[in-house]
Amino acid sequence: MRIPEETVERIRQASDILEVINDFVSLKKRGSNYIACCPFHNEKTPSFNVNPVRQIYKCFGCGKAGDSVRFVMDIENIGYGEALRYLAKKYGVEIEEQEQTPEELLRQNERESLLIALNFAKTYFQELMQNTDEGKSIGLSYFRERGFTNPTIDAFELGYSLDQWDGLLQAGIKRGYNPDMLEKAGLILRKEADGGGKVKTFDRFRGRVMFPIHNVSGRVIAFGARILKTDKNQPKYLNSPETTVYHKSQVLYGIYQAKQAIRQEDVCFLTEGYTDVISLHQAGIKNVVASSGTSLTTEQIRLVARFTPNITILYDGDAAGIKAALRGLDMVLEEGLNLRLLLLPDGEDPDSYVHKVGAEAFKAYIKQHSQDFIDFKASRWLTEAGDDPLKRAEGISDVCASITRIPDLLKRQTLSQRVAQVFHVSEQSVISEINRLLRKQQEQGQKEAERQQHRTETANRQAPPQQPATTDDINALLTSLSDSDADLPDIVIPDAPAKPTTQAKIVQTPLALQEAECIRLLLNHGARELEPGITLCQYVLSELHDIDFQTSPYTLILTLYREAYAQGDILLAADFLNQRVSNEQVIQEQVIHMTTPRYEISDGWQKHEIFVPSEEEIGILADAAYRNILRIKKMLAEQRMSQIQAQMREPTNSTDEADRLMLEFMGMKRVDIEISRLLGTVISG
Ligand code: CTP
Ligand code: MN
Repeated sequence: MRIPEETVERIRQASDILEVINDFVSLKKRGSNYIACCPFHNEKTPSFNVNPVRQIYKCFGCGKAGDSVRFVMDIENIGYGEALRYLAKKYGVEIEEQEQTPEELLRQNERESLLIALNFAKTYFQELMQNTDEGKSIGLSYFRERGFTNPTIDAFELGYSLDQWDGLLQAGIKRGYNPDMLEKAGLILRKEADGGGKVKTFDRFRGRVMFPIHNVSGRVIAFGARILKTDKNQPKYLNSPETTVYHKSQVLYGIYQAKQAIRQEDVCFLTEGYTDVISLHQAGIKNVVASSGTSLTTEQIRLVARFTPNITILYDGDAAGIKAALRGLDMVLEEGLNLRLLLLPDGEDPDSYVHKVGAEAFKAYIKQHSQDFIDFKASRWLTEAGDDPLKRAEGISDVCASITRIPDLLKRQTLSQRVAQVFHVSEQSVISEINRLLRKQQEQGQKEAERQQHRTETANRQAPPQQPATTDDINALLTSLSDSDADLPDIVIPDAPAKPTTQAKIVQTPLALQEAECIRLLLNHGARELEPGITLCQYVLSELHDIDFQTSPYTLILTLYREAYAQGDILLAADFLNQRVSNEQVIQEQVIHMTTPRYEISDGWQKHEIFVPSEEEIGILADAAYRNILRIKKMLAEQRMSQIQAQMREPTNSTDEADRLMLEFMGMKRVDIEISRLLGTVISG
C-alpha cells in the first residue's frame, strides 16, 4: 500500500535525525555537529558524522550517507515504506491505511494480538522470576549458577514459569486476554480429559526457565523453555509450536541482540543452543545466533545474509556436531555466502568453552582453528584416507560436490586451484571432476524437469511459462556443449549482475573524475551567477548541450538538472536529499558526498556550511567551472581520436571512409591543441 505523498512529507517534517540516530548509537556533540562510531562498519575512532542543520549523516570511513529515512532503512534492513512507517510510529504521525480488505485487517489484527499476548507472557515470566520465592530460588538461581549476570538476563529478557497448571492462563484472563488468543499464541493447551468429554485448559510452560525468542525487530514471537528437574519423561527444552507469528525455520535465536554486532564485525557466528548465544554475548562476543532446535535452514541463512556475507559455524566437536556442520555447509555455500567452520574440543559447546577459557582465548581459538570448507572437509578425508588412493578420490569428489553448490563461478574456479593444492593433484583433474558432477546434476535436473513438465502438461494442458535462464542453466549448457572435461571455460562464465553501486564503487577514470567535479559544482553553486544574468547551471548546461556523461550516477544527475532547468528550476542539494527528484540511494549518497568538504573530517565539517572556501570568490568559481568544462571536452576529443584510430586500422574501409575519418581526426586534434592552450598547461589525462 502506498503512503500518500503529503503523509510522507509530514513524516519527514516530524523526524529529527539526531533523535532517530540516537536510538541506535549514542551521539556526542562536536562543534555544531554530532559524531559516533559508525554503526555500519567496525571502527574504534568515530568517523560517523551527523549534521542537524542539513538533517543528514555521513560516515567518512565507509561512505554511508543519507537522511533519517535512509538511516532507518539501512540500520533495520527494511524498505522505504517500512522505514516511513517506523518513523510515523515514532513521531505519532498517522498514516491513513487505505484499501485494506476485511480479511487483511483481521489477519493483521490477529498478528498484532498474538504479539501483544506474547509480550504479556514475557513480562509475566520475568516478574515471576524476579519477584516470587519459587522464581528466585529456582529460576534466578539456576541462571546465576550458569554465570549469567543481571544485564545479560535483562538483555535476553529471561524469565521463569511457575510449577502450576494454569498460572499464566489465570493471570491472562484477569488482564482481559481471550483464552483462544493465548492458545493461538502457543501459550496454553486444551486437551480432552479422559472420558467425560470435558476439556481441560492449562499452561504449556510450567516449572521451566523461559527464553523468549525475538524477531529481528525485537518483538517476542515464541519461547524456548528449559526444564530444571531431571525428569526422563520430559524433554530438556520445550519450544513454542508454529503459530501465525512464529515459523521456526525462519527464525534465529539472538538475531535481535546480535544484528548490530554482526554488521560491525562483518561475520556471524552460528551456534546450536540458547545458552551458547547468551554466554558468548555476555563475554562480549555479540555477533552470535543459534538455530535452536532445528537444523539450519535456507531461510535462516538468508536472514544472516541481510547483515553480513560471512558465516562461521561453531558447533560441538561430537559426531552430531560434525554431521550438523556438514549439512549446513552446502546450504550456506548455495546461498553464496562465505563460510568458515570450527569444531570445539570434544565435550565442549561454545557456552562451556567460553566459560572455561574466557573471551580472549575463545576469540583466539576461533582465529586459529576455524577452517574454510575445503580444509574442513579435506582434513577429515585426508586423515581417514592415509595412503588409500580410492579414499582420496572419494574425498576430492566430496569437496568438489560442495564447490558445485557455489553460485559464483569465478569463486568456483579459484577454489578448484585450492582443492588441487590441498589434495596434491592437478587442477585439471579437479576441474574435470567438478564438470562431471555438474553434468550429473544437470542430467538429474533435466529428468526431474521432464517429469515435472509431464505432470503440469497432463494437469492443465498448457505450455509451462518460460523461465529466464539461470546461472545454472547457462552453466549446464556450457558443460553439455564442451566435449572435453578439461575445458576450463566450463566453470568460468560471467557472474550474476553486481549489487547496486554505491559511491565507493564508481570507477575513477579521469573522465569520471571530471564529470564528478562538474556535478559537484552544480550541486554546491548551481544557482550562483558567474557573471550578471548567467548562473553556473546555465553556463554548464549550455556548454554541455550536446554532451552526455558516461558515468553512472552522474549521467542521471545531469539529466535531472536538464529536466529541471527546462522548467526554469535550478536543483539544489536539498532537492536530492528529500528525494524530491529521485529516491535512489546512490544519488543521495553522491549528493551528500559532494556537498561535504573532504578535508575537514575531524571538526571542520560542521563549522563551514561553505564548502570549498576559495570558491566563495566568484572569479575562482568561474575559473573552476570553465576549466572543468574544457577538461571534459578535451577528454571527449581524445576519446574520439582513439576511436577513430581504431576504425582506421580496420581493413574494410573504403578510401572515402578513410578520408572522412582522417578529416575528423585532424579536427579533433585541433580542438585538443586549442583546449590545451586555453588551459595553459599540457594536461595528461
Ligand atoms: N533443543 C531443543 N529441544 C530439545 C533439546 C535441545 O529445542 N529437547 C535445542 C535448544 O535450543 C538447545 C539446543 O537445541 O539450546 C542445543 O541443545 P543442547 O546442546 O542439548 O543444549 P544446550 O544449549 O547445551 O543447553 P544446556 O547447556 O542448558 O544443557
Ligand atoms: Mn550446554
